[in-house]
Amino acid sequence: MDNAKLVLNGKEYQLPVTVGTEGEVGIDITALRSKTGAITLDSGYGNTGSCESSITFIDGERGILQYRGYPIEELAAKSSFLEVSFLLIFGHLPTREELDKFTFDLTHHSLLREDMKKFYEGYPPTAHPMGVLCSMVVSLSAYYPDTQEERYNNIIRLLAKLKTIAAFSYKKSIGQPYVYPRNNMSFAADLLHMMFAVPAEDYEVHQEVADALDLLLILHADHEQNCSTSTVRMVGSSEANMFATIASGICALWGKLHGGANQHVIEMLQRIQNEGGDYRKFIDMAKDKNSSFKLMGFGHRVYKNFDPRAKILKEAADKVLNKLGIKDPLLEIAKNLERVALEDSYFIERKLYPNVDFYSGIIYRAMGIPTEMFTVMFALGRLPGWIAQWKEMREDPAMRIYRPRQIYTGCTERSYIPIDERRTVEVK
Ligand code: ACO
Repeated sequence: MDNAKLVLNGKEYQLPVTVGTEGEVGIDITALRSKTGAITLDSGYGNTGSCESSITFIDGERGILQYRGYPIEELAAKSSFLEVSFLLIFGHLPTREELDKFTFDLTHHSLLREDMKKFYEGYPPTAHPMGVLCSMVVSLSAYYPDTQEERYNNIIRLLAKLKTIAAFSYKKSIGQPYVYPRNNMSFAADLLHMMFAVPAEDYEVHQEVADALDLLLILHADHEQNCSTSTVRMVGSSEANMFATIASGICALWGKLHGGANQHVIEMLQRIQNEGGDYRKFIDMAKDKNSSFKLMGFGHRVYKNFDPRAKILKEAADKVLNKLGIKDPLLEIAKNLERVALEDSYFIERKLYPNVDFYSGIIYRAMGIPTEMFTVMFALGRLPGWIAQWKEMREDPAMRIYRPRQIYTGCTERSYIPIDERRTVEVK
């Protein structure tokens, strides 16, 4: 493809063009500032490619999501979360031997150091599990040095231990004794067992519930350069250790415009139910520019047609609830909201569709997972994606520290004012 031409102050500059394997076009501005003195301005990075990556492909216009070239629909139907984790991190679907080794390694690294349990004691039971999750992950750096030789082991440790950390933070919040990981259970079943089993009582994990959790984890596993993944790359680019780097991604995910939306969707649906079920009133509120209310679980920076994950999850929600014999009025409210919104010109014109968080909460609820743990579940799913993106960046010989620029809009140079000569300025 031809170079792009930029004319600035009457002078013409050639900018090289990069084309990805799926035809995406990027104008390479790496040398823009040194050649022209100018930078690009792209608030929210909606048009900025921060890296080249061979992990995940999204076509938001056509509702396509692929991990390493495999369509999400196929992976959701045929694969498992551990297989997908291996695929994302190591770049190919594992052979049986590779998957057996990966599974063995993961099951044999899932215990936490006993003294890490003391960290939980310091938190009040009301602590949000995302805060606990993040600090436990960064604490792992105190135990496991981040060296090149330990890279594989540390990846395994983090993948294996995050589910134990997550389950322990739930047990802490309800004041129950911790249940230790089991090596004879699948990843999803072990997580459910650690969360819901009570010592001295029998607890059997429903296969349907474990399968549904595995599906949710697959659907969340990666999503190219979203807010938390970009945070991971940003922090990782300073060569901070892997545990600190991933902890930063957990913090970014927590926000309600990102992974925290799944908790807020259920809170919104509950509010609609508590206020009499008039979902149209909430649609009107979401459209009202004088209200800060947004339809949680709706809209996406990249998907402008449909979110393929939401499509899979809508069907899965019906299936799981039927299998478990659960009738959740919130599912009906969610479907009504979706139907009305998709016929409304406000949502049509802005291309706003349900995203992955819209139906995931309904399934988590059916599994008995409390609302505050929803974003933790998302973090567990997203972990292999964060690791894959971090590893890809660290293995790239051209990696540079992430350091964007800005257009300064503050005061121009002025002289220091002695304290007694200053006027009171209203503080906002
Ligand atoms: N409800 C009502 N209006 C909305 C919504 C919504 N959920 N989302 C976007 N809009 C409106 C905006 O007000 C804006 O309207 P305007 O053009 O009249 O000003 C227009 O649609 C474009 O939206 P932006 O906010 O500019 O889109 P952006 O790409 O910056 O934000 C985001 C995307 C954050 C996902 C947004 O749609 C949102 O806040 N959704 C609700 C929260 C949510 O579900 N987040 C989860 C996203 S998926 C994930 O991270 C896992």
